[in-house]
Amino acid sequence: MDFSLSEEHIMIRDAARDFARTELLPGVIERDNLQKFPTEQVKKMGELGFLGMMVDPKYGGGGMDTVSYVLAMEELSKIDASASVVVSVNNSLVCYGLQAYGSEDQKQKYLTKLATGESIGAFCLSEPEAGSDATSQKTTAIDMGDHYILNGTKNWITNGGTADYYLVIAQTDKEKGHKGINALIVEKGWDGFEIGPKEDKLGIRGSDTHSLIFNDVKVPKENRIGADGFGFTFAMKTLSGGRIGIAAQALGIAAGAYDLAREYSKVRKAFGTEICNHQAIAFKLADMHTSIEAARHLVMKAAWDKDQGKDYTMSGAMAKLYASQVAMDVTVEAVQVHGGNGYVKEYHVERLMRDAKITQIYEGTSEIQKIVISRGLLRD
Ligand code: CAA
Repeated sequence: MDFSLSEEHIMIRDAARDFARTELLPGVIERDNLQKFPTEQVKKMGELGFLGMMVDPKYGGGGMDTVSYVLAMEELSKIDASASVVVSVNNSLVCYGLQAYGSEDQKQKYLTKLATGESIGAFCLSEPEAGSDATSQKTTAIDMGDHYILNGTKNWITNGGTADYYLVIAQTDKEKGHKGINALIVEKGWDGFEIGPKEDKLGIRGSDTHSLIFNDVKVPKENRIGADGFGFTFAMKTLSGGRIGIAAQALGIAAGAYDLAREYSKVRKAFGTEICNHQAIAFKLADMHTSIEAARHLVMKAAWDKDQGKDYTMSGAMAKLYASQVAMDVTVEAVQVHGGNGYVKEYHVERLMRDAKITQIYEGTSEIQKIVISRGLLRD
């Protein structure tokens, strides 16, 4: 078994690390304070190929594997999880969904722009009453022959205000339950499509989260992804991969907080010595590092499964479940290692602690991951 990274993987990881330190770090506290979307940084990430990493080069993507993607996600998330969630949603929910299940026309029209970062995408499944219970979609897409009429509200949509294209999941035939659901591509600016106010969030405050309102929006039939009724399966399959990206984000948040805590413990003195010389702190670092390594192995295994063409639904859910818990635990400990300084913004760890929480909620709560894992275990 070979645990080493290839030269190409190291190059991609280092490029992401360098970008995060030089481009994301300056201003990250201010963007968090002001809830300011990292517009310039996202543009640069598009130019560098971080927004369509796994897309086939013939559609403008980087043609990279999932291992490359999680390496980049970890590095970006160490510094700025608000920027990395844009990368995650665009790559693994929007671009992947279109590449895997979109028509050739949809790929030419939408994927080519999304893969290069010229346009940004959003994935719209959650509703006021259908976050975890995704089959209970209240948004309707009524079949009118050559088009659908879309009505309803979506909640907590990442990139909600900044996206150009939205993959919207909606119920076409209630009688058919999850087999009556469709996924439609909706463009910003279409008549009846309204973007609700921006959410004022605990963490990932630089990211752009909105509710979306659809009032009789006319969506051409050619914008449906896959066959009639494929929408729920589309959402589930796409989310299975998305969870690997969020697991890598959680891993990055944890690793970023750990790096800060370790460095701080080597310079901060108490009781006549650097605090890392006290076992109370050294043992914390040992626990943090061990759990991060365990999370990294789960994340890499899920990415590897996907790259090998194996089923990654369970391994992705396990990686997200565990890495998001590690992100929470490690960031809380990182604040503790920093003492009073950990509670103020300039030391970054309080932000990482706030950012960590969302990784246990979006793209399926930890409880949802346990449903996915236990169903996988008990299937045979
Ligand atoms: N891949 C393929 N098909 C799947 C699947 C998967 N991973 N999971 C379920 N399905 C299929 C099932 O096989 C079943 O199909 P058949 O009837 O043909 O066999 C169908 O979907 C329904 O499955 P279930 O009966 O298991 O459905 P359920 O109602 O019990 O729900 C669930 C399953 C796992 C709880 C699902 O609803 C779920 O994942 N919920 C969470 C949704 C979620 O992650 N929301 C987050 C929003 S997105 C987001 O956060 C994006 C962002 O902005 C960052």
